[in-house]
Order: sequence, then C-alpha cells, then structure tokens
Amino acid sequence: MNAKKSFSRRPAIGPIFRRLFVVGAVWTAALVTLDHAVQAHIVMQHPGPLGESDIPQFLVQARCIACHDAREARIGPPFIAIAIRYTTADDNAKEFLAQKVLYGGAGNWGAMPMVANPQVTAEQARVVVRWILSLRPDQG
Ligand code: HEC
Repeated sequence: MNAKKSFSRRPAIGPIFRRLFVVGAVWTAALVTLDHAVQAHIVMQHPGPLGESDIPQFLVQARCIACHDAREARIGPPFIAIAIRYTTADDNAKEFLAQKVLYGGAGNWGAMPMVANPQVTAEQARVVVRWILSLRPDQG
C-alpha cells in the first residue's frame, strides 16, 4: 500500500515521457523496417543475376548514386577513382570491396563512412564491384 501511495505522489511527467519515448521508438523502428522493405522491393524488381546493362538502373535503385558519381567526388569517391586505385586488385581485394559495399565502413578515402547497404545481395555487390573496377578514365 505504501509503495503504491508513494508511486502516485511522483510527478506525472515521468510516465508521459516514457510513453512518448516508447511511441517514438516503435514509430522509428516501423519507419526503418518500412524503408528497408521498400528498398528491398525496389531492388528485387531486378531478380536474377545483374547484367551489365542493368547496372545503371541498379545504381539508382540501390541508391549508390546518392553518394557516388562516375567522375565527380560527392559524399563518396567517384567510381573512376575507385577503378584507378584498385587497378591491380586481386580476388581478395575485390571480395573486400564487395563486403564493404554490403556492410559499409570508412578510412580508405577519408573519415566519411559508407553506410551499410542491406538492400544489396552479396552477388549483386560482387557484380557491381567488378563493373566499377572495369571503368577507366577514357571510358563511360
Ligand atoms: C551514404 C553514402 C554512400 C552510399 C549510399 C554508398 N556509398 Fe560507397 N562510399 C561512400 C563513402 C563515404 C566511401 C569512402 C569510404 C572510405 O573512405 O573507406 C565509399 C566507398 C565505396 C567504395 C570503395 C571502398 C574502399 O574501401 O575503397 C565502393 C566500391 C563503393 N563505395 C561502392 C558503393 C556502391 C556499389 C553503393 C550502392 C550499393 C554505394 N557505394 C553506396 C559513401 C556511400
């Protein structure tokens, strides 16, 4: 009884904030889930292996071009700079880049991190990395 009394004497503001916090957290989680579902759906409009001619559309749908341009530095390095830097990339280096596309990370070009790209499959990441590395300044 005493415990209940002392609880009811606490200011009502705490529970209200707690409720707001829970509603906010649930709302944010719902939005993030929805966003991932929409991204996955968009990318899934391209089922099956990515062909070279699918790549420009894939870069749009997977939102790579939000941060990358073929030639100009944006938030991320230009694809051509990546191609030049990894000209001699062996299979391990290519796999490292594919993993980086999937899981994100920073430090190779600056402090700005690349976000994780959970909407991209491992196979798509490998294909798109191969395509990026095939770019040369005198092409595309
Ligand atoms: C939110 C911005 C952002 C998005 C979206 C993004 N990137 Fe990046 N990307 C970056 C940044 C920043 C770096 C540089 C990271 C570093 O310095 O290590 C980077 C680096 C890279 C690299 C080189 C990695 C290295 O270690 O040298 C590749 C390859 C790459 N991105 C491909 C992609 C692809 C493919 C997509 C789409 C699926 C994509 N990125 C989406 C920002 C982004």
